[in-house]
Amino acid sequence: TESTPLDIIIFGGAGDLAWRKLLPALYMAHLHRSLGERHRIIGLGRHEWTRRQYVEFVDRMSRRCIEPADMQPLQWQDFLRRLDYVRLDATQPQGFVGLKEACQANSVKLFYLATAPQLFTVTCEHLAGAGLLDAQSRVVLEKPLGHDLASARAINEAVARHFEERQIYRIDHYLGKETVQNLMVLRFGNAIYEPMWRAPYIRSVQITVAETVGVGTRAGFYDGTGAMRDMVQNHLLQLLCIVAMEPPISLDADDVRDEKLKVLRSLRKLGEADLRQHTVRGQYTAGTTDGQSVPGYQQEEGVPAGSRTETFVALRAHIDNARWAGVPIFLRTGKRMPKRHSEILVEFSQPPFSIFADQSGAAQPNRLLITLQPDESIKLQIMAKEPGSGMRMRPVHLNLDLQSAFTERRAEAYERLLIDVVRGRLTHFMRRDELEAAWKWADPILQGWQNQGDAPKPYTAGTWGPAAASALVARENALWAEAQ
Ligand code: BG6
Repeated sequence: TESTPLDIIIFGGAGDLAWRKLLPALYMAHLHRSLGERHRIIGLGRHEWTRRQYVEFVDRMSRRCIEPADMQPLQWQDFLRRLDYVRLDATQPQGFVGLKEACQANSVKLFYLATAPQLFTVTCEHLAGAGLLDAQSRVVLEKPLGHDLASARAINEAVARHFEERQIYRIDHYLGKETVQNLMVLRFGNAIYEPMWRAPYIRSVQITVAETVGVGTRAGFYDGTGAMRDMVQNHLLQLLCIVAMEPPISLDADDVRDEKLKVLRSLRKLGEADLRQHTVRGQYTAGTTDGQSVPGYQQEEGVPAGSRTETFVALRAHIDNARWAGVPIFLRTGKRMPKRHSEILVEFSQPPFSIFADQSGAAQPNRLLITLQPDESIKLQIMAKEPGSGMRMRPVHLNLDLQSAFTERRAEAYERLLIDVVRGRLTHFMRRDELEAAWKWADPILQGWQNQGDAPKPYTAGTWGPAAASALVARENALWAEAQ
């Protein structure tokens, strides 16, 4: 309840994720009265800081990540009063004693592991060793949850020694996006889509998550990771799950996660022989995004010369089940694309017989375009008769802008997900078997790429990726959304 003491304990409390995302999200939760009076936040880090120094750090850094309209000085000061800091090196047991002392008496403890996954195991061991865990504790695991199936399993096993599955919140922040959650309502809260949401009525599906940013200051992490591990294995597959899953029997966490798991398990494994046909890896070269000239990936600070890390992936996936057999599913993501843009395009089949065949004005398929960010909209392309004599047709759009349809505040993904953790709601978090199934699909692709040793295909920053990505969809008579 609201008056139960709760400690939100952030490992990596001075790290990027903490000051950029988690603390601003917690402030927003505070501002909108979603945090209880006795909810406190303990940042952990290796700096020799006092509480006051940590508060100053958060004040300086996180402040910039908060919209000016939301920065209410009194509320901000109130929020900062919730903060505490404990110096802790996760590899050493000593700091955990100090952590225990900093916690409120009889508090529910929520451990947010926003550190490198290599530290997860030792962190859990020391938490247990210090007697910090009980049946009420929760742990939040940030991505990347491993580098491949074996490392993901090792992490899961280590965490499972100290937490039950119901206490484990594997975060994929895409599942916290309003628009992504709205997909479930679109599909299952309306009667008109579901009967046609399958082969042969759907001809293809494409999911794009395009970013304009480059690797930024994260080369150290990114160069050993690449777009497949950073985006496809998690965010894009989670989107795919929601687009492709069967209706869950309820919104309970396991009911939803059972259905997502089935999608992941039905994904066809791509063997080495399929990769050149069904996948494209790219890497950006110098170019222009957002009107600025930007360096190529290999010239970015911290990227080793000759790096073969991909910053772009496009691939054709197959879902081998009764609903989707034969429907090409295209996934694409990249850095330094022309615009920040995430969308799902569902292309329906043409009418089985056209009585307009002799008329000019080519029929185009119905297309449902769901834009997830930066704007949130749903657009349905239909054919309409062109005014005039004769029966010429032309595509027109039913257009719904969700930002203007709703005036309510839209919370950021991390805020919504953190509140879910506080309230003990697991629906929008990944279960262990889901995560492992996603790796089971991604691993052979990563392995195959490595065996083949092909360099990623160059693409100029500010373009939609290598030409091979267009060829990939063209083989299935499709076009990427921006080319239509
Ligand atoms: C993160 C990736 O998980 O998602 C980043 O590590 C990426 O590389 C980010 O930029 C994209 O998230 P969003 O919410 O900005 O689409």
